[in-house]
Amino acid sequence: MSNFFLPLMNDNIDKEDINNVIDFLSQDKIPKLTNGPKVLEFENTWGEWLGTKYNLMVNSGASANELTMLALAHIVGEGEIIVPPLTWISDISSVLFAGHKLVFVDVNFINLSFDIDKLKEAITPQTKAIFLTHVLGINALTKQLIDICESQNILLIEDVCESHGTTYKDTKVGNVGFASNFSFYFAHHMSTIEGGMISTNNHEFYQICRALRSHGMTREMTDISMRQKLIDSNPDLNPDFIFLRPAHNFRSTEINAVIGLSQIKKLDSKNQERKDNFDLFISNLNPDKYYIALNTEGNCNYAFIVILNNPDMKERDLLENKLKENGIEFRRGLSGGGNQMRQPFFKSVYKDFSNYPNIEHIHNFSWYIGNYPGLEKEKIIKLLEVLNV
Ligand SMILES: Cc1ncc(COP(=O)(O)O)c(C=O)c1O
Repeated sequence: MSNFFLPLMNDNIDKEDINNVIDFLSQDKIPKLTNGPKVLEFENTWGEWLGTKYNLMVNSGASANELTMLALAHIVGEGEIIVPPLTWISDISSVLFAGHKLVFVDVNFINLSFDIDKLKEAITPQTKAIFLTHVLGINALTKQLIDICESQNILLIEDVCESHGTTYKDTKVGNVGFASNFSFYFAHHMSTIEGGMISTNNHEFYQICRALRSHGMTREMTDISMRQKLIDSNPDLNPDFIFLRPAHNFRSTEINAVIGLSQIKKLDSKNQERKDNFDLFISNLNPDKYYIALNTEGNCNYAFIVILNNPDMKERDLLENKLKENGIEFRRGLSGGGNQMRQPFFKSVYKDFSNYPNIEHIHNFSWYIGNYPGLEKEKIIKLLEVLNV
């Protein structure tokens, strides 16, 4: 148990989920436990929930990111991928590991995604994809962004690892771009202990991802004609052991899928609790002190977002001390701890952040605080008291 009055996260997995695992494992004939029918059942159930045709379960959100970037390199070649500096680290490493070039574009204060004018300037003939992040449940999709991708033939990839159930217009995010990535980590909207999902409506991308999930092994492809072409062009190889390109093993186990099937039944009702909590929080936050003009339409949040209006280090330190004294757990910098360009391995690459003022403000003057189902209203009110004075 956490010692915090308001911890950052609460485990989603409950007794019912555990009992479902026990039932699964207690069958007379012990089921195969590696990637099998339960993974497929969960993928299909997920597809019904999200509305996507093809869904592939993997062992983490980071694996979903990496697999997506590898599959893109295979399909459209290595090139430039536009990313925000406000994201999780795997959105950066996946681009690098797949051999693409990173292009950072600053974020905005409307939806915490790309500054659209800077995004337009960053596009070149080498741009292969825009890899957006829906930050902490805030929808990052706009008509302008979608139009840019469509008119310039750029693939739009959505990282939805922190935003399951967020909507754009009437559509769930993750069902708009070319492909999307989800995480089922412990504290996210739903959990499979560890786990992730790639969702897409593109047949070829899905088939390539199937192979790349399992070492690049082409026998994992379910499209027989795609597989046959590779067999025919590699007559010196055993058809069972043709590897598309160097890849990893990102498979899930059946146990994680059984938890996923149990968890997804509760996802919508738990998301509604998170939304109600967030509404209570944001509508009572002091606008003189905090930035409250984010576009929260369609948001589905697992953390309260706090951004100081004034870039004042003294105010920031005072606030952090107050939160600590009151047992309120927090993380500075929102997703991934703020400006990813400041990480140690980029020290010699990125030195001048004058073109990135918004992420710099977020890096220093923003926090996220736990918002989870079952969080007592009194705790939200107490949090507001601590923040607002
Ligand atoms: C935006 C984003 N992408 C990717 C990930 C990675 O997911 P996982 O922890 O399941 O590897 C996270 C994790 O929190 C995330 O927030």
